[in-house]
Amino acid sequence: MTAGAPAFPSDFVWGTATASYQVEGAVAEDGRGESIWDRFSAHPGNVWNGDTGAVACDTYHRYAEDIGLMRLLGIGAFRLSVAWPRIMPEGHGHVNQAGLDFYDRLVDELLANGVDPYVTLYHWDLPQVLEDQGGWPARETVDAFTEYTEVVATRLGDRVRHWITQNEPWVVSWLGYGLGVHAPGRKSERDALAAGHHVLLAHGRAAEVLRRESPASEVGIAIDLVPTYPFSDAEADVEAARRSDSFRNRWFLDPVLGRGYPNDMLERYADILPTIGDGDIETIAAPLDFLGINYYTRNVVRAGIGEVETEGAERTDMGWEVYPDGLHDLLTRLRAEYELPDLYVTENGAAFSDARENGSVPDPRRIAYLKGHLDALALAIAEGVPVRGYFLWSLLDNFEWAFGFSRRFGIVYVDFDTLERVPKDSFAWYRDFIEAQRP
Ligand code: FCB
Repeated sequence: MTAGAPAFPSDFVWGTATASYQVEGAVAEDGRGESIWDRFSAHPGNVWNGDTGAVACDTYHRYAEDIGLMRLLGIGAFRLSVAWPRIMPEGHGHVNQAGLDFYDRLVDELLANGVDPYVTLYHWDLPQVLEDQGGWPARETVDAFTEYTEVVATRLGDRVRHWITQNEPWVVSWLGYGLGVHAPGRKSERDALAAGHHVLLAHGRAAEVLRRESPASEVGIAIDLVPTYPFSDAEADVEAARRSDSFRNRWFLDPVLGRGYPNDMLERYADILPTIGDGDIETIAAPLDFLGINYYTRNVVRAGIGEVETEGAERTDMGWEVYPDGLHDLLTRLRAEYELPDLYVTENGAAFSDARENGSVPDPRRIAYLKGHLDALALAIAEGVPVRGYFLWSLLDNFEWAFGFSRRFGIVYVDFDTLERVPKDSFAWYRDFIEAQRP
């Protein structure tokens, strides 16, 4: 790369990402039904400080202001998610027009401001009624999701050009159903495996619906990938890292990219696997226009112990190691090992304890994080990995799931008492960075 020359292709897509429950608020408005996150966060001890998404950033009412910020930032794309309980408060059947109207207005406002919506259909706010009927471990939830997808695609499919069916199947299944730290808070490996299979099946079915109802659009899925490194060259550590990679990454990546589930995991969980129906593997392998990758950190794995912390490594407020090379390693590995569609980085960012200082919010560590990861990304692209866009997590500080409002990922600071938005230094940095990429 010549100094000063743009590091990214001129048609590269720059954006930020978010999710309905984390920013919208207005949980009891306009006919929205209860979601598993409303129920989970209301239960003492589940979320830091008893925080909930009841108000969050109030984007439901303040979206025009937030789109104004996007304009200042100069992004061409915004990744948002649709709240299923706003559209179908009972999970399936009855359609709540007022819920659809909200996303209609949001999409129109984005387009009017030159921002392309990338719409995720499921970013974790399952209607509570569906959880009461079995949740993701129940196969019927796949049918409900297919119906919901059809309703959303029919309404927005003429304007939305990019769909993301599911966000982070590993987190949905293992944090929600296996480890119980996310809604709905179940702790069963059997449920986690069933949930994971049904989330993937729901992805495949939704892809078929989207092809039909929104034929001019591109369809993808966002998978959380965590490159895994052995603690040492010792064979046992290498083997432990390989197993961890299979559990954390390949269990989802392989079936989506047409290889079926990895054998080592099928063997490991043979006794508690859900029924994998005839045709399921083919449905899950539905052709993709793009694969979204959410990248935050890496894992270092040691035999007999599991994940270990690298001494001296910088960590974010989430405790996640800052490791930009992991993004480059991950992307080049994907290219070496799979037949790939286009790729997008659908999430990347960092939480730090930012504070206001005389009207501004200095966040040099976030800027360094972003710079490091964008350098790693530029290198992977220069080496031929087909990455088409980058979505920074996140525009606004927001409800960070079990951590409530205690973890700030935004490039815009949000005062959660007044809901005032204050762009951080990283906002100006990202704006200038995007500007510098223009030919
Ligand atoms: C990802 C989630 C996103 C956000 C970031 C920090 O796992 O998809 O909603 O919480 O982590």
